[in-house]
Amino acid sequence: MNVDIGNALATVASPGVSRASLERLDSQVAAAHERIERGMENREHGYESLNLPQRTDPDEIRAAVEPIADAEVLFTVGIGGSSLGAATITNALESDTETVFLDNVDPEWVTSHLERISLENAAINVVSRSGTTAETLANFLVVRDAFESAGVDWTERTIVTTGEAGPLRDLANRHDLPSLKVPDGVPGRFSALSAVGMVAAAVCGHDLEALLEGAAAERETLTGSLFECPAYAYGATAYALDKRGAGVNAMMPYAESLETYAEWFAQLWAESLGKDGLGQTPVRALGVTDQHSQLQLYRAGPRDKLVTFITTQEGTDRGIPETDVSELAYLGDATLGELLAAEFEATEASLAAAGQPNVRIELERVDEYELGGLLYGMEAACVLAGELYSVNTFEQPAVEWAKKATRGLLGGGEFEEAEAVADKTELR
Ligand code: PA5
Repeated sequence: MNVDIGNALATVASPGVSRASLERLDSQVAAAHERIERGMENREHGYESLNLPQRTDPDEIRAAVEPIADAEVLFTVGIGGSSLGAATITNALESDTETVFLDNVDPEWVTSHLERISLENAAINVVSRSGTTAETLANFLVVRDAFESAGVDWTERTIVTTGEAGPLRDLANRHDLPSLKVPDGVPGRFSALSAVGMVAAAVCGHDLEALLEGAAAERETLTGSLFECPAYAYGATAYALDKRGAGVNAMMPYAESLETYAEWFAQLWAESLGKDGLGQTPVRALGVTDQHSQLQLYRAGPRDKLVTFITTQEGTDRGIPETDVSELAYLGDATLGELLAAEFEATEASLAAAGQPNVRIELERVDEYELGGLLYGMEAACVLAGELYSVNTFEQPAVEWAKKATRGLLGGGEFEEAEAVADKTELR
């Protein structure tokens, strides 16, 4: 990926970050880079995620999914980091296999999927690092029950990805299900390039090697200077802008296929950096659609935002048919792709003219190689930002608190978090 930070730099008219400030920040980037390299070398918790391009074995994943490789529909049951990486990859790429991501436990929504889909030709991909997440386990029990009711042997149609031990691992062992292990030292939101994100991609027939090669190429760019490394340029610029008041980061890909990527990015940025009263609030947007809903605010609202664009250079295009209506003649000479590009250029220029900082991330096209690079690059950007903020990027105590409170409220054990919720309820 290429990163262009030109429109984030301060000018007379714009409040961005000055080149001199970024040059001063670069010594902190160099120190952070040393820390990151050391963490990777020692395979420390979290930093190990950046080793996945070398550690993930595509053959192992393909062999494990073999029994369900004929699935016409794949249910992925998981949530957060155990869902969004897989969804980003499979929603971005075309496949004959339909993918359904069951993360929410809204009964109406879950039921509508189970009633719509013919389960004879479906399969289940259940993913939970801890093996204890209530939403995932509940949805899995519901889905396997639906398979049973439809006369389908779910044990023949299920693959499990989980940690070394835990209730889901026990269940996989008890039913002799094909299973893969979530790699040690890799938190959920950094696991897209492991079995967690790649089982669904394998069932959909995507090129796993190319995903990893794209990521490996991005790894090669990690150096001690933000002026030489696209991922660090992004992480450092976002951090520096946040310190200057851009507390919101609107991620706006100009490709419908990358809509889920913006969701994945929102989790990565929010859950990794939102600590100790720090962090930048990620917002999801989609070009061109949200030009007609959010752009007004981005251009003329408070100066508290960084807008991050993602553009692609190549892709399927389609001509716009000519018409006799003279006011529309200009469209007849163009394609939808040209219109999309013009919309992007106009939006970028309009924000720059209004002095609203923005950054452009350029991909050649949306394919496995470029996606691997994008996922890896943004993870590295996030790890770098975490070092600059001095937060623990790889933990998520607020998420764990809510998980325990939920389990406690449902009678799944005694947790002080559940007692705190009960106390609060009594106070009202
Ligand atoms: O990034 C994270 O750590 C979280 O979002 C988890 O992925 C999410 O809570 C699901 O956890 P688990 O995989 O243990 O079911």
